[in-house]
Amino acid sequence: MPIRFEPSCRQFRLRAGGTDYIMAVAPGGYLAHVYFGEAVPDEDLTALLRLDENPFTPETNDRDRAVYLDTLPLEYPCYGIGDFREPAFKIRAADGTSACDLRYVSHRITEGKPEIPGLPATFPAKDSPCDTLEILLADQKTGLEVTLCYTAFRELDAIARSVRVKNNGSEKCTLTRVYSAAFDLDRSDLHMITLNGSWARERMVERCRLHHGKQSVDSMRGCSSHQYSPFAALCEPCADEERGEVFGSCFVYSGNFTILAEVTQHDAVRFVMGINDADFSWELSSGEEFCAPEAVLVRSSNGIGGMSRTFHDLFRKNLIRSQYVDRPRPVLINNWEATYFDFDEEKLLSIAREASSLGIEMLVMDDGWFGHRDDDNSSLGDWTVYEKKLPSGLGSLSEKLRAMGMELGIWFEPEMISPDSELYRLHPDWAVQISGRPMTLCRGQYVLDLTRREIADHVWEMMRRVLDSAEISYVKWDMNRQITEAASQGLPAGRQGEFWHRYILAVYELMERLVSRYPELLLETCAGGGGRFDAGMLYYSPQIWCSDDTDAIERLRIQYGTSLCFPCSAIGAHVSDCPNHTVGRSTPFSTRGHAALAGTFGYELDVTRISAEDRVQIPGQISDYRKYGGLVRSGDLYRIGDPFTDGQWDGWIFAAKDGSQALFAYFQILGRPNRRSRRVKLRGLDPKAYYFEESSPERRFSGAYLMNCGINIGGLWGDFQSRLYHFIKCKG
Ligand code: GLA
Repeated sequence: MPIRFEPSCRQFRLRAGGTDYIMAVAPGGYLAHVYFGEAVPDEDLTALLRLDENPFTPETNDRDRAVYLDTLPLEYPCYGIGDFREPAFKIRAADGTSACDLRYVSHRITEGKPEIPGLPATFPAKDSPCDTLEILLADQKTGLEVTLCYTAFRELDAIARSVRVKNNGSEKCTLTRVYSAAFDLDRSDLHMITLNGSWARERMVERCRLHHGKQSVDSMRGCSSHQYSPFAALCEPCADEERGEVFGSCFVYSGNFTILAEVTQHDAVRFVMGINDADFSWELSSGEEFCAPEAVLVRSSNGIGGMSRTFHDLFRKNLIRSQYVDRPRPVLINNWEATYFDFDEEKLLSIAREASSLGIEMLVMDDGWFGHRDDDNSSLGDWTVYEKKLPSGLGSLSEKLRAMGMELGIWFEPEMISPDSELYRLHPDWAVQISGRPMTLCRGQYVLDLTRREIADHVWEMMRRVLDSAEISYVKWDMNRQITEAASQGLPAGRQGEFWHRYILAVYELMERLVSRYPELLLETCAGGGGRFDAGMLYYSPQIWCSDDTDAIERLRIQYGTSLCFPCSAIGAHVSDCPNHTVGRSTPFSTRGHAALAGTFGYELDVTRISAEDRVQIPGQISDYRKYGGLVRSGDLYRIGDPFTDGQWDGWIFAAKDGSQALFAYFQILGRPNRRSRRVKLRGLDPKAYYFEESSPERRFSGAYLMNCGINIGGLWGDFQSRLYHFIKCKG
């Protein structure tokens, strides 16, 4: 069994792939973290806890219990009883105090994995089974019971954690911090990798050496945010894409979060991850339960690349539910950058006509089809067709598209309300607000208080009516502002701290209604570009719009950073217009195609207006997508370039898991004078097999040659050039 309890040393061992995660019940009943690393034979590892060293244990030296607790590596540290490092759990008890003392009570081990009610989470899959350990801890004074859930995936070096809190006492208790994961590593020479960014510049990779004190990233914006991703990795200083030990962590959640690493006085690292506790509280009456979201931990001995590949496999097999996860997606054309708000049926149909003749299969009508929306100042909340633009309605548009062999996709921003809307005129109190305070506008709009059932039901009713009124195959679910004046009229004064989490729960519930009523629908989530690109969203949507920056060169970095944790099959990527609307850069059409190939692939331009020279390339690009899309969706990604430090070139490889083929894309960022060719070593091939590159089948290379010696990439003429190489295993 991959999860074992050894009674003699009260030690739990979770084996996930080649990784062991070991805990023990330490003297006093505290759950201690023993080891997280490469799998080791079954033996007693509790010596790692240094229980024989000063300050001993409460049993032998109770006078120094605080010192014991402040040095013991803990699995779920509580606030207020002697561990002065960053706590994972904090309460406000009925008597107003904040301390809590959780001690081991019991545990159980089961096959598979229970769901977390109302929250996205990984699940067991036939080809990726898992087992779960639940450890029950309790606080005697309040009667709080905390269940720590650990799921070990048998084939993957991944462990999913979550926490359930039940009030078994007789008095009300308020939770003020319930993080989802914590562990202490007995070393501090680690680097922390995080993803930071901004609108149109999401998920830039940043790596810093940990130092004494606390380093953290977080969001208090009501969404996981453009600014920091709910992902972090700790790694050995020597770790690179291929080598070194890396501990990755990803929060399966789309709201406010905190990730923090603290280097302690004894040069250990405490790591915590969970719902941001700024303005968080959750009241638990006697008998009530609270579930904290899931955090996923991944360990790799093969560097950052190894960590990414495990995340990708885990998310593709055990998180993304959509049937599209490994299916070709229809090649779509989105009209946002083609027309912005300035479109009508005829304009859309003329784009669609040209697009369909080139092999494009779906038209996505973006923002501006509803209410009286001619710019971003009105109509959010009024999900009825704008007759000036679409006089014959959605049904007729979809029929006309179908007649030319195309499907219809549509944009929604269900969580929002414009001050200039029928909905706001009828229900001004439906917008999130604090009574008596001015409301902060953001992109001219407010957020709907979806935590109120009647509001969520109304939104659902409007969406359902639209989706039932025509054949709609795809929805882009956008979210273009952050939350301010967080409060709900549906909550009493003492429970306003529940708003942030209740809001995300309500979004998840609405998404659940959508995907269960329309199981065939392809859902792409989005938040002003990639402001909510997180594992929580992946549970509902197999793809997420990665960034409003569609420039191919900017995308190299954005997609690189995103791929640290998220599979490329989920990265929304389009070939767009030039000069690029965000950075003004002109890149060759072929380079734009190659960059979009490492994502979902599609178009976002007016095909009727681009040059004939570019237009004729579209059928070829689509056939590349058909040919290589499967490799991108299910292959192993190797990032062999580094657009962050080198800046001269970038390159990625998608290798088939069985070693039968690999696609290598090379990007020359700037052309340079007097350069020789660049030697690039390939990855992910079978060293013993022989391969040929499709364009010159006569030349054979061993996998070992390609990976150890590499190939010479001749200089390409000009800036922003790219080339694809397809290596195929020779038969026999
Ligand atoms: C966001 C999205 C864009 C587009 C606009 C429409 O910014 O990221 O792709 O849909 O909204 O307003």
